[in-house]
Amino acid sequence: MRRTVAAAVDALRRGELVILPTETVYGLAGDAGRLETVAAIFAAKGRPSFNPLIAHVADLEAARRIGVLDARAEALALRFWPGPLTLVAPVLEEAPVCDLARAGLGTVALRAPAHPLAQEVLRAFAAPLAAPSANRSGRPSPTRFEDAAGETGSSAAAGLDGGPCRIGLESTVVSLLPGEPARLLRPGGVVRSELLEVLGVLIDADDVEDARRSPGRLAAHYAPEAPVRINVLAPAEGEAFIGFGALEEDPDLNLSRRGDVAEAAANLFTLLRRADASRPRAISVAPVPRTGLGEAVNDRLERAAGRVG
Ligand code: TXA
Ligand code: MG
Repeated sequence: MRRTVAAAVDALRRGELVILPTETVYGLAGDAGRLETVAAIFAAKGRPSFNPLIAHVADLEAARRIGVLDARAEALALRFWPGPLTLVAPVLEEAPVCDLARAGLGTVALRAPAHPLAQEVLRAFAAPLAAPSANRSGRPSPTRFEDAAGETGSSAAAGLDGGPCRIGLESTVVSLLPGEPARLLRPGGVVRSELLEVLGVLIDADDVEDARRSPGRLAAHYAPEAPVRINVLAPAEGEAFIGFGALEEDPDLNLSRRGDVAEAAANLFTLLRRADASRPRAISVAPVPRTGLGEAVNDRLERAAGRVG
Protein backbone atom coordinates (compact mmCIF):
# COMPACT_ATOMS: atom_id res chain seq x y z
CA MET A 1 0.00 0.00 0.00
CA ARG A 2 1.48 3.36 -1.03
CA ARG A 3 1.51 6.04 1.66
CA THR A 4 1.91 9.55 0.20
CA VAL A 5 -0.74 12.12 -0.73
CA ALA A 6 0.51 12.11 -4.34
CA ALA A 7 0.18 8.31 -4.51
CA ALA A 8 -3.30 8.48 -2.95
CA VAL A 9 -4.52 11.06 -5.50
CA ASP A 10 -2.94 9.08 -8.32
CA ALA A 11 -4.73 5.89 -7.15
CA LEU A 12 -8.06 7.73 -6.93
CA ARG A 13 -7.63 9.03 -10.48
CA ARG A 14 -7.15 5.44 -11.66
CA GLY A 15 -10.38 4.40 -9.90
CA GLU A 16 -8.60 2.61 -7.03
CA LEU A 17 -9.46 2.77 -3.32
CA VAL A 18 -7.63 4.72 -0.62
CA ILE A 19 -7.69 4.60 3.19
CA LEU A 20 -8.36 8.22 4.13
CA PRO A 21 -8.14 9.75 7.63
CA THR A 22 -10.91 12.11 8.70
CA GLU A 23 -11.51 13.83 12.04
CA THR A 24 -14.37 11.38 12.77
CA VAL A 25 -13.24 7.89 11.66
CA TYR A 26 -11.08 6.48 8.85
CA GLY A 27 -12.83 6.14 5.49
CA LEU A 28 -12.37 3.83 2.51
CA ALA A 29 -12.48 6.37 -0.32
CA GLY A 30 -12.99 6.17 -4.05
CA ASP A 31 -14.23 8.30 -6.97
CA ALA A 32 -17.97 8.75 -6.28
CA GLY A 33 -18.66 9.16 -10.00
CA ARG A 34 -17.29 5.77 -11.10
CA LEU A 35 -19.62 2.82 -10.86
CA GLU A 36 -16.84 0.14 -10.79
CA THR A 37 -15.02 2.03 -8.03
CA VAL A 38 -18.13 2.39 -5.90
CA ALA A 39 -18.95 -1.29 -6.48
CA ALA A 40 -15.44 -2.14 -5.24
CA ILE A 41 -16.08 -0.13 -2.03
CA PHE A 42 -19.29 -2.09 -1.34
CA ALA A 43 -17.45 -5.37 -2.02
CA ALA A 44 -14.46 -4.47 0.21
CA LYS A 45 -16.78 -3.70 3.11
CA GLY A 46 -19.20 -6.57 2.47
CA ARG A 47 -21.84 -3.82 2.63
CA PRO A 48 -25.39 -4.27 1.32
CA SER A 49 -25.79 -2.07 -1.75
CA PHE A 50 -29.06 -0.54 -0.48
CA ASN A 51 -27.07 1.45 2.10
CA PRO A 52 -25.94 4.71 0.42
CA LEU A 53 -22.52 6.35 0.82
CA ILE A 54 -21.55 9.90 1.79
CA ALA A 55 -20.06 12.08 -0.98
CA HIS A 56 -17.10 13.94 0.55
CA VAL A 57 -16.18 17.37 -0.81
CA ALA A 58 -13.62 20.02 0.09
CA ASP A 59 -16.12 22.79 0.82
CA LEU A 60 -19.58 24.30 0.45
CA GLU A 61 -18.92 25.51 -3.08
CA ALA A 62 -18.21 21.94 -4.23
CA ALA A 63 -21.31 20.68 -2.39
CA ARG A 64 -23.51 23.20 -4.24
CA ARG A 65 -22.53 21.50 -7.51
CA ILE A 66 -23.90 18.16 -6.24
CA GLY A 67 -26.98 18.78 -4.10
CA VAL A 68 -29.81 21.30 -3.77
CA LEU A 69 -28.93 23.07 -0.54
CA ASP A 70 -31.78 25.07 0.97
CA ALA A 71 -31.34 27.95 3.46
CA ARG A 72 -31.11 25.51 6.39
CA ALA A 73 -28.45 23.41 4.70
CA GLU A 74 -26.45 26.51 3.77
CA ALA A 75 -26.63 27.81 7.34
CA LEU A 76 -25.48 24.47 8.77
CA ALA A 77 -22.62 24.16 6.28
CA LEU A 78 -21.46 27.72 6.97
CA ARG A 79 -21.39 27.04 10.70
CA PHE A 80 -20.02 23.47 10.86
CA TRP A 81 -17.99 22.79 7.70
CA PRO A 82 -15.37 21.60 7.39
CA GLY A 83 -16.41 19.27 10.20
CA PRO A 84 -18.33 16.23 11.46
CA LEU A 85 -21.70 17.02 9.83
CA THR A 86 -23.34 15.29 6.84
CA LEU A 87 -26.25 16.96 5.02
CA VAL A 88 -28.78 14.91 3.03
CA ALA A 89 -30.33 16.97 0.21
CA PRO A 90 -31.98 16.38 -3.19
CA VAL A 91 -29.33 15.43 -5.75
CA LEU A 92 -28.71 17.55 -8.87
CA GLU A 93 -29.21 15.68 -12.12
CA GLU A 94 -25.69 16.46 -13.37
CA ALA A 95 -23.97 15.58 -10.07
CA PRO A 96 -20.80 13.45 -10.43
CA VAL A 97 -22.09 10.90 -7.89
CA CYS A 98 -23.19 7.62 -9.46
CA ASP A 99 -26.52 5.98 -8.71
CA LEU A 100 -24.94 3.09 -6.83
CA ALA A 101 -23.23 5.49 -4.38
CA ARG A 102 -26.69 6.92 -3.61
CA ALA A 103 -28.30 3.46 -3.57
CA GLY A 104 -30.63 4.76 -6.27
CA LEU A 105 -32.13 7.47 -4.01
CA GLY A 106 -33.07 10.92 -5.30
CA THR A 107 -31.02 12.42 -2.48
CA VAL A 108 -27.31 12.68 -1.74
CA ALA A 109 -25.37 12.82 1.55
CA LEU A 110 -22.67 15.53 1.55
CA ARG A 111 -19.83 16.21 3.98
CA ALA A 112 -16.71 18.38 3.99
CA PRO A 113 -14.28 16.68 6.42
CA ALA A 114 -11.88 18.81 8.48
CA HIS A 115 -8.82 16.54 8.67
CA PRO A 116 -5.94 18.32 6.87
CA LEU A 117 -4.99 15.17 4.91
CA ALA A 118 -8.59 14.64 3.77
CA GLN A 119 -8.72 18.31 2.72
CA GLU A 120 -5.43 18.00 0.83
CA VAL A 121 -6.62 14.92 -1.07
CA LEU A 122 -10.07 16.40 -1.85
CA ARG A 123 -8.55 19.66 -3.15
CA ALA A 124 -6.09 17.80 -5.38
CA PHE A 125 -8.69 15.29 -6.63
CA ALA A 126 -11.26 18.07 -7.21
CA ALA A 127 -14.27 15.71 -7.41
CA PRO A 128 -16.45 14.04 -4.77
CA LEU A 129 -15.15 10.97 -2.93
CA ALA A 130 -17.49 8.24 -1.73
CA ALA A 131 -16.07 7.19 1.65
CA PRO A 132 -17.85 4.95 4.10
CA SER A 133 -16.12 4.14 7.36
CA ALA A 134 -13.23 1.76 6.55
CA ASN A 135 -14.54 -1.13 8.69
CA ARG A 136 -16.07 -4.28 7.27
CA SER A 137 -19.85 -3.91 7.36
CA GLY A 138 -21.41 -4.22 10.83
CA ARG A 139 -18.10 -3.83 12.74
CA PRO A 140 -16.77 -0.95 14.86
CA SER A 141 -15.46 1.95 12.77
CA PRO A 142 -11.65 2.32 12.68
CA THR A 143 -10.25 5.34 14.52
CA ARG A 144 -6.57 4.47 13.96
CA PHE A 145 -4.72 3.80 10.73
CA GLU A 146 -3.66 0.27 11.82
CA ASP A 147 -7.30 -0.67 12.52
CA ALA A 148 -8.44 0.65 9.13
CA ALA A 149 -5.62 -1.20 7.35
CA GLY A 150 -6.58 -4.40 9.21
CA GLU A 151 -10.24 -4.09 8.18
CA THR A 152 -10.19 -3.13 4.51
CA GLY A 153 -6.52 -2.33 3.73
CA SER A 154 -6.15 -5.30 1.38
CA SER A 155 -8.62 -3.61 -1.00
CA ALA A 156 -6.81 -0.24 -0.95
CA ALA A 157 -4.03 0.79 -3.34
CA ALA A 158 -2.92 3.59 -1.03
CA GLY A 159 -3.49 4.73 2.55
CA LEU A 160 -2.65 7.79 4.63
CA ASP A 161 -1.86 7.62 8.35
CA GLY A 162 -3.39 10.74 9.90
CA GLY A 163 -2.99 9.58 13.50
CA PRO A 164 -5.84 8.74 15.89
CA CYS A 165 -9.15 10.38 14.91
CA ARG A 166 -9.88 13.46 17.02
CA ILE A 167 -13.64 12.86 17.34
CA GLY A 168 -13.67 9.05 17.17
CA LEU A 169 -17.25 8.47 16.04
CA GLU A 170 -19.01 9.28 12.80
CA SER A 171 -20.48 12.52 11.55
CA THR A 172 -23.97 13.66 12.46
CA VAL A 173 -26.39 13.05 9.55
CA VAL A 174 -29.23 15.58 9.07
CA SER A 175 -31.72 15.42 6.22
CA LEU A 176 -33.01 18.69 4.75
CA LEU A 177 -35.71 17.85 2.22
CA PRO A 178 -38.27 20.20 0.67
CA GLY A 179 -41.46 20.59 2.70
CA GLU A 180 -40.10 18.56 5.62
CA PRO A 181 -38.70 19.58 8.99
CA ALA A 182 -34.97 18.97 9.45
CA ARG A 183 -34.50 15.40 10.62
CA LEU A 184 -31.66 13.92 12.66
CA LEU A 185 -30.84 10.62 10.92
CA ARG A 186 -27.70 9.80 12.94
CA PRO A 187 -26.36 11.54 16.06
CA GLY A 188 -22.62 12.23 15.77
CA GLY A 189 -19.78 14.70 16.07
CA VAL A 190 -21.98 17.83 15.91
CA VAL A 191 -24.33 17.56 18.89
CA ARG A 192 -28.08 18.22 19.03
CA SER A 193 -27.86 21.51 20.97
CA GLU A 194 -25.45 22.93 18.35
CA LEU A 195 -27.82 21.95 15.52
CA LEU A 196 -30.77 23.51 17.34
CA GLU A 197 -28.94 26.84 17.66
CA VAL A 198 -28.94 27.05 13.85
CA LEU A 199 -32.16 25.20 12.95
CA GLY A 200 -34.68 25.99 15.67
CA VAL A 201 -36.60 22.83 14.71
CA LEU A 202 -35.12 19.34 14.46
CA ILE A 203 -37.19 16.18 14.55
CA ASP A 204 -35.90 12.70 15.33
CA ALA A 205 -35.54 9.91 12.85
CA ASP A 206 -38.45 7.56 12.99
CA ASP A 207 -36.69 4.19 13.13
CA VAL A 208 -39.11 2.29 10.92
CA GLU A 209 -39.56 4.93 8.23
CA ASP A 210 -35.93 6.04 8.25
CA ALA A 211 -34.45 2.57 8.23
CA ARG A 212 -35.83 2.59 4.71
CA ARG A 213 -34.51 6.04 3.87
CA SER A 214 -31.18 5.73 5.69
CA PRO A 215 -30.46 2.02 5.95
CA GLY A 216 -27.35 2.75 8.03
CA ARG A 217 -29.79 2.88 10.91
CA LEU A 218 -30.43 -0.85 10.77
CA ALA A 219 -29.38 -3.02 13.73
CA ALA A 220 -26.13 -4.90 14.34
CA HIS A 221 -23.85 -1.99 13.62
CA TYR A 222 -20.55 -1.12 15.24
CA ALA A 223 -20.48 -4.60 16.80
CA PRO A 224 -17.34 -6.42 18.00
CA GLU A 225 -17.20 -10.25 17.90
CA ALA A 226 -18.24 -10.66 21.55
CA PRO A 227 -21.82 -9.82 22.57
CA VAL A 228 -22.16 -6.37 24.15
CA ARG A 229 -24.15 -5.50 27.32
CA ILE A 230 -24.72 -1.84 28.12
CA ASN A 231 -25.54 0.25 31.22
CA VAL A 232 -23.75 -2.31 33.39
CA LEU A 233 -22.70 -1.34 36.92
CA ALA A 234 -21.01 -4.59 37.91
CA PRO A 235 -19.55 -6.92 35.22
CA ALA A 236 -20.31 -10.66 35.33
CA GLU A 237 -17.60 -13.33 35.57
CA GLY A 238 -15.60 -13.64 32.35
CA GLU A 239 -16.77 -10.33 30.88
CA ALA A 240 -14.43 -7.61 29.64
CA PHE A 241 -15.62 -4.44 31.38
CA ILE A 242 -15.34 -0.92 29.95
CA GLY A 243 -15.90 1.75 32.60
CA PHE A 244 -16.83 5.41 32.50
CA GLY A 245 -15.89 8.01 35.14
CA ALA A 246 -14.15 7.50 38.47
CA LEU A 247 -15.06 4.00 39.70
CA GLU A 248 -14.32 2.40 43.05
CA GLU A 249 -12.64 -0.55 41.38
CA ASP A 250 -10.87 1.12 38.49
CA PRO A 251 -11.05 -1.16 35.40
CA ASP A 252 -8.16 -1.43 32.88
CA LEU A 253 -10.45 -0.08 30.18
CA ASN A 254 -12.19 3.22 30.88
CA LEU A 255 -13.89 5.48 28.31
CA SER A 256 -13.03 8.54 30.39
CA ARG A 257 -11.74 8.44 33.97
CA ARG A 258 -12.65 12.12 34.36
CA GLY A 259 -16.21 11.47 33.12
CA ASP A 260 -15.90 13.53 29.92
CA VAL A 261 -18.31 12.40 27.15
CA ALA A 262 -16.13 13.86 24.35
CA GLU A 263 -13.17 11.81 25.60
CA ALA A 264 -15.49 8.77 25.78
CA ALA A 265 -16.50 9.29 22.13
CA ALA A 266 -12.86 9.47 21.06
CA ASN A 267 -12.04 6.23 22.93
CA LEU A 268 -15.21 4.23 22.20
CA PHE A 269 -14.32 2.17 19.11
CA THR A 270 -10.68 1.64 20.16
CA LEU A 271 -11.75 0.28 23.55
CA LEU A 272 -14.43 -1.98 22.00
CA ARG A 273 -11.69 -3.40 19.76
CA ARG A 274 -9.27 -3.76 22.67
CA ALA A 275 -11.89 -5.50 24.84
CA ASP A 276 -12.71 -7.84 21.96
CA ALA A 277 -9.03 -8.78 21.49
CA SER A 278 -9.03 -10.75 24.78
CA ARG A 279 -11.86 -12.90 23.31
CA PRO A 280 -14.15 -12.47 26.35
CA ARG A 281 -17.52 -14.18 26.84
CA ALA A 282 -19.10 -10.73 26.57
CA ILE A 283 -18.18 -7.06 26.75
CA SER A 284 -20.04 -5.01 29.35
CA VAL A 285 -20.03 -1.22 29.34
CA ALA A 286 -20.82 1.21 32.16
CA PRO A 287 -23.61 3.78 31.70
CA VAL A 288 -22.59 6.95 29.83
CA PRO A 289 -24.67 10.14 30.29
CA ARG A 290 -26.66 11.23 27.22
CA THR A 291 -25.56 14.87 27.35
CA GLY A 292 -23.67 16.39 24.37
CA LEU A 293 -21.64 13.76 22.51
CA GLY A 294 -23.07 11.21 24.98
CA GLU A 295 -26.15 10.92 22.73
CA ALA A 296 -23.99 9.60 19.86
CA VAL A 297 -21.96 7.37 22.22
CA ASN A 298 -25.19 5.78 23.50
CA ASP A 299 -26.56 5.42 19.95
CA ARG A 300 -23.45 3.45 18.89
CA LEU A 301 -23.49 1.35 22.09
CA GLU A 302 -27.18 0.48 21.65
CA ARG A 303 -26.49 -0.63 18.07
CA ALA A 304 -23.39 -2.61 19.12
CA ALA A 305 -25.62 -4.32 21.70
CA GLY A 306 -28.22 -5.04 18.99
CA ARG A 307 -30.89 -3.08 20.83
CA VAL A 308 -32.02 -0.91 17.92
CA GLY A 309 -33.78 -1.72 14.68
O1 TXA B 1 -17.96 10.43 9.77
C1 TXA B 1 -18.43 9.88 8.78
O2 TXA B 1 -19.52 10.21 8.29
C2 TXA B 1 -17.59 8.79 8.12
C3 TXA B 1 -16.30 9.42 7.55
C4 TXA B 1 -15.45 8.44 6.81
O3 TXA B 1 -16.63 10.53 6.77
N1 TXA B 1 -18.33 8.11 7.11
C5 TXA B 1 -19.38 7.30 7.39
O4 TXA B 1 -19.93 6.69 6.29
O5 TXA B 1 -19.77 7.11 8.53
P1 TXA B 1 -20.92 5.46 6.40
O6 TXA B 1 -21.11 5.00 5.01
O7 TXA B 1 -20.36 4.47 7.36
O8 TXA B 1 -22.25 6.07 6.93
C6 TXA B 1 -23.06 6.88 6.06
C7 TXA B 1 -24.43 7.07 6.67
C8 TXA B 1 -25.22 5.79 6.64
O9 TXA B 1 -25.97 5.71 7.85
C9 TXA B 1 -26.12 5.97 5.42
O10 TXA B 1 -27.31 5.22 5.51
C10 TXA B 1 -26.39 7.48 5.48
O11 TXA B 1 -25.14 8.04 5.89
N2 TXA B 1 -26.71 8.03 4.15
C11 TXA B 1 -25.92 8.13 3.07
N3 TXA B 1 -26.59 8.64 2.01
C12 TXA B 1 -27.84 8.88 2.43
C13 TXA B 1 -29.02 9.41 1.81
N4 TXA B 1 -29.05 9.79 0.54
N5 TXA B 1 -30.14 9.51 2.58
C14 TXA B 1 -30.12 9.14 3.88
N6 TXA B 1 -29.05 8.63 4.52
C15 TXA B 1 -27.92 8.50 3.82
MG1 MG C 1 -20.10 3.00 8.87
